[in-house]
Amino acid sequence: MTDDDFTVTPYAVQGDVDYERVLDQFGADELTEAERERFPEPLHPLIKRGIFYGGRDVEAYLDAIDEDEQVSIVTGRGPSGPMHIGHVFPLYLAKYLQDRTGAHVYIPISDDEKYFAKDQDFDDIQGWAKDNITEIMAVGFDPEKTRIVVDSADADVIYPWAAKFAKRYTQSTVNATYGDPDNVGLSFYPAVQATHLLLPQLVHGRHRTIVPIAVDQDPHIRLCRDVAAKEDYDVHKPSALLSRFFPQLKGDGGKMSSSDQNPTIYLSDDRETVREKIQTYAFSGGQTSLEEHREKGGDPDVDVAYQLLYYFFEEDDAKVEELAAEYRSGELLTGELKNYAADKVSDFLEQHQERKAALGDFHEEISEYTLTDEERATLTEDLLY
Ligand code: TRP
Repeated sequence: MTDDDFTVTPYAVQGDVDYERVLDQFGADELTEAERERFPEPLHPLIKRGIFYGGRDVEAYLDAIDEDEQVSIVTGRGPSGPMHIGHVFPLYLAKYLQDRTGAHVYIPISDDEKYFAKDQDFDDIQGWAKDNITEIMAVGFDPEKTRIVVDSADADVIYPWAAKFAKRYTQSTVNATYGDPDNVGLSFYPAVQATHLLLPQLVHGRHRTIVPIAVDQDPHIRLCRDVAAKEDYDVHKPSALLSRFFPQLKGDGGKMSSSDQNPTIYLSDDRETVREKIQTYAFSGGQTSLEEHREKGGDPDVDVAYQLLYYFFEEDDAKVEELAAEYRSGELLTGELKNYAADKVSDFLEQHQERKAALGDFHEEISEYTLTDEERATLTEDLLY
């Protein structure tokens, strides 16, 4: 990362990220047009319009879908705060793929990782885990085919595998990949995430799996693939589907994060709040005065309201093209574009919130998604008892 003025690791994203260079640095591939078009129809905006832009072994995964083989998806969550719209797009992509391919979806919750990485009590992290799992259950996955696994609560299955994989990781590889870890928990954690990525195959046997995730998480996948390639594990290397960072409201191109300087839209925001945040903060590609805007037009490519619609919230191709054209011509004003985006975001959030409100008692609901006794037995069969 020496000749570039940006850094991307799972624990630090700094500078102006050159997305193509990151793939080079990591040794991942750009997602080709031909690959995009092979995803199940109708193509999801996240695939079609390129927020997912890179990957590893994507072809092998698409081949397995074409052959009607059982496939799986792994996409997880580190619970250290409330979830915003940037956190859920890999989950909604996973749901879209599950609906069309019958994929198993495994969703690991890395409460240990966040405890190691953040200045928060274990109890606080548990609270966020519960909150985030509730959001994840509101996505509407098929519980029969979806498993939520919590590192601490499911340690009986996670730990023995993580221990096996940890032996293959040297401290120097971990340091070189993630930067020097702050504590031994973070040194060990990559072996835990490797376990997550291999879980579907450890439960159901060797088959194709894919991990849709922001590109900063690719190092976890890379190291896991190295481990998977070693000796006695009868597994395929997990494929990866890598995304750019979801646009931040303020539009500086970095990772969407939550802090006072970086207002974001939370899954729990109501219509008024969404409208106010977008109107107040969304970086505009419009001109400063109405006359100038009418005359010169706006630039949708840097306009965050437009980007939200383009990448996720407006599925209709004709509509996004029309919005871009009208914005460029000056016919559509910034305030109008923002209102349109706010409506689309709110419509989406309201549906999510309705599903969330319909959930019952946490323990009952989560029991639909926990590993079955049989799956647990498969994962622990070589243990003493
Ligand atoms: N490490 C991820 C994060 O910090 C969360 C995570 C844990 C994850 N296990 C995973 C993501 C498996 C994808 C696949 O956001």
